[in-house]
Amino acid sequence: MQCADEWSCISETGCDCTPFSSWAAVCTLAHILADTMTDSQTDGAAAESPMEFYEKVTAQGEAVRELKTGKAPKEEIDVAVKLLLQLKLDYKRVSGQDYKAGCPPTDSPASGESVPAAAEDGDDLVDPWTVATSNAKGVDYEKLIVRFGSSKIEAELIERMERVTGQKAHRFLRRGIFFSHRRVQQPCPSALDMHQILDAYENKKSFYLYTGRGPSSEAMHMGHLIPFIFTKWLQDVFDIPLVIQLTDDEKYLWKDLTLEDCHRYAVENAKDIIACGFDVNKTFIFSDLDYMGMSSGFYRNVVKIQKHVTFNQVKGIFGFTDSDCIGKISFPAIQAAPSFSTSFPQIFNGRKDIQCLIPCAIDQDPYFRMTRDVAPRIGYPKPALLHSTFFPALQGAQTKMSASDPNSSIFLTDTAKQIKNKINKHAFSGGRDTVEEHRKHGGDADVDVSFMYLTFFLEDDEKLEQIRQDYTSGALLTGELKKCLIETLQPMITQHQERRKQVTDETVKQFMTPRKLDFHF
Ligand code: TYM
Repeated sequence: MQCADEWSCISETGCDCTPFSSWAAVCTLAHILADTMTDSQTDGAAAESPMEFYEKVTAQGEAVRELKTGKAPKEEIDVAVKLLLQLKLDYKRVSGQDYKAGCPPTDSPASGESVPAAAEDGDDLVDPWTVATSNAKGVDYEKLIVRFGSSKIEAELIERMERVTGQKAHRFLRRGIFFSHRRVQQPCPSALDMHQILDAYENKKSFYLYTGRGPSSEAMHMGHLIPFIFTKWLQDVFDIPLVIQLTDDEKYLWKDLTLEDCHRYAVENAKDIIACGFDVNKTFIFSDLDYMGMSSGFYRNVVKIQKHVTFNQVKGIFGFTDSDCIGKISFPAIQAAPSFSTSFPQIFNGRKDIQCLIPCAIDQDPYFRMTRDVAPRIGYPKPALLHSTFFPALQGAQTKMSASDPNSSIFLTDTAKQIKNKINKHAFSGGRDTVEEHRKHGGDADVDVSFMYLTFFLEDDEKLEQIRQDYTSGALLTGELKKCLIETLQPMITQHQERRKQVTDETVKQFMTPRKLDFHF
């Protein structure tokens, strides 16, 4: 007999429903198992700890619910229920506890430890606070994709984006600067986040963009611009709402700064972000310090997330220790909350099903691995992600640029002269020691910072390729390459500064006022 609710029925009594018989069902089980494996790879490791089994049971419970709500074929539901039962048995085996919805396993030292933020792969270290590698070419992103369990953005996905939007892909996509995205668990292994977003878009279903900035100083550097430039392009081609979080609370917790300074930096940084060209009718920028207390949805989501992540998990993900202040420990929930549309009731009219897409550099991924783990357990869709590589420091691709070292990067406040001097003096060169040697053996574009910077900012693909060939053959000297970069960056930064001057306090206020945007939900 079919139970009224297999999920609670299995939970409470272990009653089995329709027998697992047909070949279709066998295929479906294989399919679901493949998905389960994909998801465990996605989130970093095989499912071995009690917490991971707990999460799998919860996710599978949600899957059963969804199949039932969507009136899926009976065989499919049966197979999913069967898998749920199996996962519950596995959970009991590894945790010694019965599965109870909403109650993660207690005393499980392993939980979270298999999803570390820091990918120490060989010499590469990547987390929200450190990006370091001993390789002059920079972080090995191919390895990082494997380590973080994300997926490479393949040519096919880029072609599909071009087809769906009718626009040429942004140079960051064409050149592999945005290089990775995150897989979803359901409904089949080949369904990838960005594909799902494109499916939705083709079916006239809207989604929204979410990105952010931690305002640690008044001036932003060029690396900080990367996600914003790309987000602006995404907003233009898809015509969708955008929310931008300024984590002044985060910077207060992590840095030796006053709350007032962090809030002031948030407003100053908002001016630079607005100067990237965002549309005030489609964009909401908020400071955590202001918005958390104002919104009827945001803090509720923060609390829901906090309830579903254990201290063990955040220790494993972010490397927190017992001497970290509790503000740091609870902060990841605040960065996670904007991934859910109910955090912005004024924009999404209370709807909880609007899919979120987050463009950011890959250092922020640990926050969103945690978010994706939590999402199904609190009844929200997982956010999709697009990850970028790092815009390197002037000294080379081994380190992340630092706002506190003025010579490590070009700032949006630098004058044309400062830009020229910094590039000429500090940009690491892949050229040879003498002109003769350079002409004879050519330079190494792969480690040359000026060339790397051009790959981010020179729009013309053919010109870029010509420069690469000429530099590699020795026809183009380091000084000439640097000149080309200076001539590319100087007008770009000057124009940015001009646009920033036009951003008044009133404009900032408009962007930062919680309000309905030009979209109907
Ligand atoms: P923050 O302020 O460190 O960085 C802001 C954004 O810039 C990216 N980024 C870089 N991208 C390319 N090359 C670089 N050298 C480089 N340095 C930084 C970061 O990945 C980020 O996307 N906690 C966050 C603020 C935040 C956020 C978010 C970021 C809150 N919510 C959602 C992205 C998405 C922070 O301190 O970012």
